[in-house]
Amino acid sequence: MALALHGITARFGGLVALDDVSMRVEPGRIVGVIGPNGAGKTTLFNVVCGFVTPSSGSLTLDGAPLRPRPHRLTAHGIARTLQGVGLFDGLTVLENVMAGASHTARAGFVPALLGLPRSDRDERRLRELAMRCLTEVGAAEHAAAAPATLPYAVRKRVALARALAARPRLLLLDEPAGGLGAEEVEELGQLIRSLPRQSGGECAVVLVEHHMDLVMAVCDEIVVLDFGRVVAAGTPDEVRDNPAVAEAYLGADVSTVDAEAPA
Ligand SMILES: Nc1ncnc2c1ncn2[C@@H]1O[C@H](COP(=O)(O)OP(=O)(O)O)[C@@H](O)[C@H]1O
Ligand SMILES: [Mg+2]
Repeated sequence: MALALHGITARFGGLVALDDVSMRVEPGRIVGVIGPNGAGKTTLFNVVCGFVTPSSGSLTLDGAPLRPRPHRLTAHGIARTLQGVGLFDGLTVLENVMAGASHTARAGFVPALLGLPRSDRDERRLRELAMRCLTEVGAAEHAAAAPATLPYAVRKRVALARALAARPRLLLLDEPAGGLGAEEVEELGQLIRSLPRQSGGECAVVLVEHHMDLVMAVCDEIVVLDFGRVVAAGTPDEVRDNPAVAEAYLGADVSTVDAEAPA
């Protein structure tokens, strides 16, 4: 599914968190959004999810105007993972993932949780879907576990499975590698690369991440934000070689740093 941002500006009081940001995410593509702390990455996700209303600009989804509402996201075909983990501790791993898919069941998962009458067929279908998603992320063996008992890296995989259970056509990942070790980051990279293919090549992924190696390894395109502005965009190679990127991360260009270095 193609997502486009057209000249999005978002303010918090006097602070301009996003400044005239335009970008496109084509179906089946993995687009990275990088930039230093405070650059506006999470705000960009919040705009796409409807948590933050831009002061100007617009969004389109497959060319049609998108006015996102957080509670309607899955109906738009959009799913996100949160910075951190955000699983329900009172539910098993499998139930957490089922909750991600609940909009697809007619009777609904919430009535089921409350012990209200529901269709057994819906419930069985949900369970099967949730197990498939856990298998996709390599966490099927933990289906019956309580999330709190699992290592952090596994919980992050479960959170990803929950997002996949919504069968999204646009998946937003906010710092999925946060808190992971080097080997876990590499496995996560392979998993993210496989996501568009698993969904028939149609699912687009937007990856917000600090972890530069991961972004460079998995993304087809990268957008670099600094102080809410797009300072560079292109393939990983183009972005790596762009002086504006080093500048954004260092806060000054290299020659300035050299000039100010004590002799
Ligand atoms: N809800 C909010 N209220 C006020 N300021 C915010 C809010 N969310 C983010 N900001 C500010 O907007 C800027 C961008 O933040 P954020 O999008 O979280 O950056 P990033 O995710 O790139 O680290 C920061 O200066 C941050 O302090
Ligand atoms: Mg952030």
